[in-house]
Amino acid sequence: MGEVVAIAAVGRNGVIGAGNDIPWRITEDWARFRAVTMGHVLIMGRKTFDSVGRPLPGRRTIVVTRDEAWRNEGVTTAATVEQALADAARLAPEATVFVAGGGEIYRAAWPLIDRLEITEVDLEPAGDITFPRIAAADWVATGRDQRDGFAFVGYRRRTGSAANDCTAGAEEGTRTLTPEGTGT
Ligand SMILES: NC(=O)c1ccc[n+]([C@@H]2O[C@H](COP(=O)([O-])OP(=O)(O)OC[C@H]3O[C@@H](n4cnc5c(N)ncnc54)[C@H](OP(=O)(O)O)[C@@H]3O)[C@@H](O)[C@H]2O)c1
Repeated sequence: MGEVVAIAAVGRNGVIGAGNDIPWRITEDWARFRAVTMGHVLIMGRKTFDSVGRPLPGRRTIVVTRDEAWRNEGVTTAATVEQALADAARLAPEATVFVAGGGEIYRAAWPLIDRLEITEVDLEPAGDITFPRIAAADWVATGRDQRDGFAFVGYRRRTGSAANDCTAGAEEGTRTLTPEGTGT
């Protein structure tokens, strides 16, 4: 299997969603999401799939749900994140596997994620869905592409780092780390 990469747009306060929606509209971020994930595999929770409403073209989509009866045209289903990763490895061994949310699925997949592709959004919106805390002990920033109002930031899991506690709430946010290796 290729790398397992979590991709998310995250507010300064750690918020990624409000109800079933994303609390901003950034066209450039959608375009980048499309470009980065095209031809690869997307794993997403059933609620995120419902909010998108359809399979995204050009990408194999695996929806994680506990509902054995749930079906949707153009996607496959998995009962756990581990099963979704195993299915991805079997169906598309060369592909990168993108974990595309939402909050529950980022947390369930967290120990298995090699890299993060984060769009740091320069807002602190209200919202009940958060991204796990990116702890400096576990993740090193590998690059930062600053735009107007947001930045594309990459992280790689530190070699030998154990899965960190990803149960932290929004108040801990995602900006608690020292951005070593940034600006490359
Ligand atoms: N900003 C971003 O980049 C971004 C990206 C994606 C999503 N979002 C936002 O995130 C929010 C949705 O996130 P969410 O946390 O509410 O839901 P979610 O993670 O998208 O989906 C949750 C659902 O996934 C299934 N599930 C979760 N954990 C599971 C497990 N361990 N094993 C098997 N199935 C499991 C369950 O489906 P069943 O109920 O069917 O069993 C659960 O209801 C929305 O607001 C969305 O807009 C933001």
